[in-house]
Amino acid sequence: MEKNMQGKGDLLLLKSVGEIASEGEGKIEVFKKYGIDFCCGGNKTLKMACEESNINEKFIVNELNAVQEQGQEKEKGKNYISNQGANDWDIDFLIDYIVNIHHTFLRIHLPEGAEYMEKIARVHGSRHLELIKIRELFTKMTEALIFHLDKEETGLFQHIKDKKTGDGLLKEINDAEYDHEYVGHILKEMNFLSSSYSVPEDACASYKHAYELLKNISDDIMIHVHLENNILFKKI
Ligand SMILES: [Fe+2]
Ligand SMILES: [Fe+2]
Repeated sequence: MEKNMQGKGDLLLLKSVGEIASEGEGKIEVFKKYGIDFCCGGNKTLKMACEESNINEKFIVNELNAVQEQGQEKEKGKNYISNQGANDWDIDFLIDYIVNIHHTFLRIHLPEGAEYMEKIARVHGSRHLELIKIRELFTKMTEALIFHLDKEETGLFQHIKDKKTGDGLLKEINDAEYDHEYVGHILKEMNFLSSSYSVPEDACASYKHAYELLKNISDDIMIHVHLENNILFKKI
């Protein structure tokens, strides 16, 4: 069946989605375009992910290879904060990066998201019923995330830095992965209900801002969870 798929493509299809995602942001952009879950679904091979989502393997392999070739050129011009090369970072630095960039992002933007969702659900909820459900999901997710961030910062991450090992640490990692999955499910549902955060024609500025905010929060969580599941936890 696969005689026509050769070398590079075959190898790539057998790699895990998480591993490919950790090779750079360009690859992550390709996964986002095709709707492939690279954070909680990161353990699947690219082949499995394609089969599950009915994606043409050849197309995505070609795009990933093209990104690989363009990658180095693009990176040369970058001067903003990037997790490029996170695979090779020292564990303590990776933890500090996750906390300072991604946990801080959520602590700032989750309350703002809640405020805007509250507002637009109140004003537009009668005509756009999905807003009521999205508000409810966002509240549930925010509560779970704040608890999760605290737990990582004071528990798991501290224990990794203290070089703890054994069943206790393993349990903390499993707990964190469980939380990630829970949040992942909520993100998928919100994405579905909001039609990937596309605003209706009658949307006001607050509506647009709320959806943009939720989309940014969702994108940031995907990268954040990817750094933890596929890079940090794999190193331990
Ligand atoms: Fe985290
Ligand atoms: Fe986490």
